[in-house]
Amino acid sequence: MSIDGPAAAGKGTIARALAARFGFAHLDTGLLYRAVGRRVLAGETAEMAAASLSPLDLDRDDLRTQEVAEAASRAAVLPTVRALLVDFQRSFARRTGGAVLDGRDIGTVICPDAEVKLFVTASAEVRAHRRWLELRAAGHEVTEASVLDDVRARDARDAGRKDAPMVAAGDAMVLDTSELGIDAAVAAAEAVVKERLGR
Ligand code: CDP
Repeated sequence: MSIDGPAAAGKGTIARALAARFGFAHLDTGLLYRAVGRRVLAGETAEMAAASLSPLDLDRDDLRTQEVAEAASRAAVLPTVRALLVDFQRSFARRTGGAVLDGRDIGTVICPDAEVKLFVTASAEVRAHRRWLELRAAGHEVTEASVLDDVRARDARDAGRKDAPMVAAGDAMVLDTSELGIDAAVAAAEAVVKERLGR
C-alpha cells in the first residue's frame, strides 16, 4: 500500500494507523532521505551517505528538524541518491504479510503496482500549523511563518524535480485532510482501504 503527499499532510499518522489496523509493516521513506540529509549536514556527500545508510542512521532522535528536512529535500533531487535507495524500499514493500510505505514517489516510482494508493494532502497553511505544533512540542524554537516558508519551499522543490517528482499517481485516491481532525482522516483512509482490499 502506498501513501504519498506533501510535508505534514498526515501521511505518517495515517500510515501507522493503517499498518496497525491491517497488520502491515510500515516504512516511513522520508526517514531515509532525512538520514541522508543529516549526514550531508555533518560533512559527507549525499551519494556517500545514501550508499552506506545503516539502521542506526534511521534510529536517531535528531532527524525531525527543519534543517534536516531541508537538507533531505536537496539530496532527494539527486537521481543517484534516489537510485541508491530504491532496492531497500522495494524489498520492504514485498514483505510477506503486506507493507505500507509513505513518501513522495511510492505510488508512482517505487511501487507502481501497489494494491491501494493514497495521496494525502492539505492546504500549506494547515500543514505548516500542524508541523509548527509538532516542532514546538519537541522543544524546537521556530515561528509558524518560518515553518510555512519551509513547507512551501520544500513542496516546490519536491514537486518540481525532474526525477520522481511528488505527484498523485493516476490511480491514487486523493484525501484532503485540511478540514479533518486526525481521527476523521484515519477513518476516511481506512474506509478507502477496506473497500479496495475487501476486508
Ligand atoms: O515529514 P515530512 O512530510 O515533512 O517529510 P518526510 O516525509 O520526512 O520527507 C523529507 C524529504 O525527503 C521530503 O521533503 C522529500 O524531499 C524527500 N522524500 C522523497 O523525495 N521521497 C520520498 N519517498 C520521501 C521523502
